Amino acid sequence: MSRSFELADRLKKLPPYLFAEIDRAKTELRRKKISFIDLSIGDPDIPAPKAVLKKIFEASAVKSNQKYALDAGKASLRAAIQKWMKKRFSVNLDPGSEILPLIGSKEGLVHFPLAFAGAGDYVLIPSPGYPGYRAAALFAGARVHEMPLLEKNAFLPELKKIPVSVRNKAKIMYLNYPNNPTTAVAPKSFLEEAVRFCSKHGIILAYDNAYSEIFFEKKPMSVLQIKGAKEVAVEFHSFSKTFCMTGFRLGWACGSAHLVGGLLKLKTNIDSGVWGAIQEGGAHALDKEWKYTDSLRKQFAARRNLFVAGLKKKGFDGIHADSAFYVWARLPRGYSSSIEYAAHLLKDKNIVATPGLGFGTHGEGFIRFALTTGTAELKKALQKL
Ligand SMILES: Cc1ncc(COP(=O)(O)O)c(C=O)c1O
Repeated sequence: MSRSFELADRLKKLPPYLFAEIDRAKTELRRKKISFIDLSIGDPDIPAPKAVLKKIFEASAVKSNQKYALDAGKASLRAAIQKWMKKRFSVNLDPGSEILPLIGSKEGLVHFPLAFAGAGDYVLIPSPGYPGYRAAALFAGARVHEMPLLEKNAFLPELKKIPVSVRNKAKIMYLNYPNNPTTAVAPKSFLEEAVRFCSKHGIILAYDNAYSEIFFEKKPMSVLQIKGAKEVAVEFHSFSKTFCMTGFRLGWACGSAHLVGGLLKLKTNIDSGVWGAIQEGGAHALDKEWKYTDSLRKQFAARRNLFVAGLKKKGFDGIHADSAFYVWARLPRGYSSSIEYAAHLLKDKNIVATPGLGFGTHGEGFIRFALTTGTAELKKALQKL
């Protein structure tokens, strides 16, 4: 019989990982052979580009790709990232010092505070927000300060409301636009304000741009387009959403050489880079798959239009679907707890959606639907709602 070993405090402090909880509920439905419509996790049903798969398959036979990868990533991938950032955002980056491939953007986002924050520091996180930021801060032994993203402020944090005592001890501010879960896209004026604020208070701006390519009417910016950002910001990108490559685990960090270098130094002590074949597939995607992402946006726009119109007909209001492939909607009348509403959807309608509270205290009152399934399923879900 094994002894019961106590978990470390850093793990005890964490709330249960939202998507692991939802996975458990889905496994239970499967066990009972109950079919369900899954609108919970941001993992699109659309296949990755065929040419990327071919590239990875071919590259896997190359001997050098069967060896440890370079921690700093292949020169060919870093060059492709440099070209893509220039073409998409007109941002100039030095591929040797300002770009770092990651094992998915989550890996970099969550490791980052270990390189730059510690006991006594604050990490500023958006609420609601991607759950990884909180874990990242706590793993580094830092304190968390939530920045509320409220509907009345277009889901932008009010930086002036961050208490002076917190500002003075803040080391990192996470921001994420296009935003998960609220779908807000940040205007240039807000990005300027954020860069100004972080420069003034000596705070690192960790800008999560994982959804930069999943947009509709408003085209998102890179924070690195803002004057002065290179001195204080590091931006995280992902292949998961832009090319539906969630399982491949590939992303990158870019921006300030000092910040990118710190993350590299940390990572060389933790992992051994991304598999070379995946890096070659990623470089191909960035160079050649612009049309794939155009078509992806059209598919998500069609799903969004259908689902939003359906929700309106059902009497929902406070519906937000400005970017990414999510719909962030206020709970229908009669519900004040998002957990209770999500449980009702699961039990009575066999629809899996994500309760707003799971993204932080200020997510309460909302539910998130992920449009990661086709229009036929979405129509079925709307009939049941
Ligand atoms: C806001 C945000 N950032 C980062 C990630 C992580 O993406 P990946 O690690 O697949 O690049 C996600 C995934 O859902 C996300 O929603």
